[in-house]
Amino acid sequence: MTEGSDEDRSETGATALRDLRCGEVRAGDVGRQVTLTGWVHRRRDLGGLFFVDLRDRAGVVQVSLGPEWTSEEALELGQELNPEDVIRVTGEVVRRPEDAVNPDLPTGEVEVHAEEVERLSEADSLPILVAMPPEEELPSEELRLRHRVLDLRRPEMLENFRVRHRATAAARRALDEEDFLEVETPLLTRRTPEGARDFLVPSRMHRGEFYSLPQSPQLYKQLLMVSGFDRYYQVAKCLRDEDLRADRQPEFTQIDAEMAFVGEEDVQRVCSRMLARMWEEGAGVRPELPFPKIAYDEALERYGTDSPDLRVPWELEDFSESLTGIGFRIFDGAVKAGGRVRGFVASTGAGQEAAADRLSRSDLDELDALAQDRGAKGVLWLKSEEDGWSGPPARFLEDHPEAAEALGRDHGVEQGDVVLLVAGADAETGPPLSALRRETARRLDALEEDAHRFAWIVEYPLFEEDPETGEPVPSHHPFTLPRTDDPERVVEEPLAAKSHAYDVVYNGTEICSGSIRCHDSALQRAIFTVLGLSSEEAEQRFGFLLEAFRYGVPPHGGFAVGLDRTVALLVGADSIRDVIAFPKTTAARGLMEGAPSPVDEAELTELGLELRRGGSGPRG
Ligand code: AMO
Repeated sequence: MTEGSDEDRSETGATALRDLRCGEVRAGDVGRQVTLTGWVHRRRDLGGLFFVDLRDRAGVVQVSLGPEWTSEEALELGQELNPEDVIRVTGEVVRRPEDAVNPDLPTGEVEVHAEEVERLSEADSLPILVAMPPEEELPSEELRLRHRVLDLRRPEMLENFRVRHRATAAARRALDEEDFLEVETPLLTRRTPEGARDFLVPSRMHRGEFYSLPQSPQLYKQLLMVSGFDRYYQVAKCLRDEDLRADRQPEFTQIDAEMAFVGEEDVQRVCSRMLARMWEEGAGVRPELPFPKIAYDEALERYGTDSPDLRVPWELEDFSESLTGIGFRIFDGAVKAGGRVRGFVASTGAGQEAAADRLSRSDLDELDALAQDRGAKGVLWLKSEEDGWSGPPARFLEDHPEAAEALGRDHGVEQGDVVLLVAGADAETGPPLSALRRETARRLDALEEDAHRFAWIVEYPLFEEDPETGEPVPSHHPFTLPRTDDPERVVEEPLAAKSHAYDVVYNGTEICSGSIRCHDSALQRAIFTVLGLSSEEAEQRFGFLLEAFRYGVPPHGGFAVGLDRTVALLVGADSIRDVIAFPKTTAARGLMEGAPSPVDEAELTELGLELRRGGSGPRG
């Protein structure tokens, strides 16, 4: 329990209405006459003795009705007070009897003997409980979001926001010490190049024209570098109209930074130091610096993903050579079609129950379902057991001892290990294998649960293929510096070009992205050519940036850390919604305030808009 943590023992809580905050009362206050204010957290009636747990941001303190209260008066007050009423209590701080001390509570040695109790505001009956017994399941998220004000009163939620505050303050301090200037950039702007859909805001003054809400401050921060600001940062709201998941919101926050006259290493050093401070002050852990670097191609080869969870002890290997030609058609077929048989050896440490014994049939079925969910046809497994091999391809190994031998020799498979395999094109086997690595490790207790594994993923490709159109699209954004200075090579072989883009991955989640930007006009033109943007179109979309670049642009680069994701990881929340005060649902609705909401005809007319009825589109 974090109530009344020392951070809150500031005694800055004294105001015209109270002397200190509830969670700040300590044994040192015994004998003191105090006035406290707060919410009725719990009431307890112990056979005539009446207690109230009074709560405010700093924590909970026990209030009892002292000897001057007759039992009728106490009973009457007890019946009158509702959970979550706001009250003001005046009384003396007394030491609790020895057997009533609560060592789990910072205020647990004392209680306040109330002499006067005044109700400042009465609470209706509650749609969701604030004083949740720890063993009780939380109400549905829909109900929690609908009644967010009450949900945020739960001390667990408050703690998430303390961590969020500490992490943000740590980032600010870290950047301030490195001489960054905090600058705000507009929310009403033009299209941004991050690749998601923009939210549009109709202009009343300029009918038929729309502002875009920024997907990030990307272009503005580059312009600030052209203006000579040298080092910029901002705790920036970003807005993206994209499909949502547990780790995505339409409105989220980045710690966004940009630096001039830098190379990749400089940006990464500053960002790593900042992240380390955030972890230190947000979670009390000191990440080891520098973070390891893994090239994008290598990450895909070793982990099947560019956001690998490095707490998993096993890496992917290519089993194509060992397992083709033994008559197992799935393997042969995949390799013949240009794919590979990839997988990993799940092995538990010495002295632990073997993986082959621990992974049951139903575990393997569930892993198979997971692999299918991530796009594989299924997972194939081989168990090396005392009496031989088991698993779908086992029979073929019995007939081909040389393949079984290769598994031991080339892949280190030992008795008790399980080999998990997926066959197919790399792009299809990577995502399922990445998910399988993590889930198998979790089931075998092989995941280093308490570890903090950061890595820089570097040397991203400049472009990737759009899965729908097959056309090259920027893998970061169109202002990323290629790793070649030859514009022709970019145009001729766009998908082969690497870039100066980089990400930070923490325990398998991407928390930060950035790049060195293109400040060379020939290379920038080549990128636009690949994207099929004529110079007129490029001028029309990004003219203000390109124009600025004509007046002396320093080499520059930067990064943006996803603050919500980072805080969710710091507090161990399953969803970023738990670390955003007023988040949207996965259907992008604000359930509490009722957003979005229809507007009336008059407002539409003023904006020069007319709704088309019966339009289709996702509803939620
Ligand atoms: P990018 O688009 O990769 O880069 O975003 C940077 C980080 O922001 C977080 N993030 C999100 N968090 C919550 N909900 C979302 N919908 C969401 N989308 C992204 C992620 C991600 O790593 N301008 C560039 C940065 C740069 O190049 O400097 C940018 O925005 O944690």
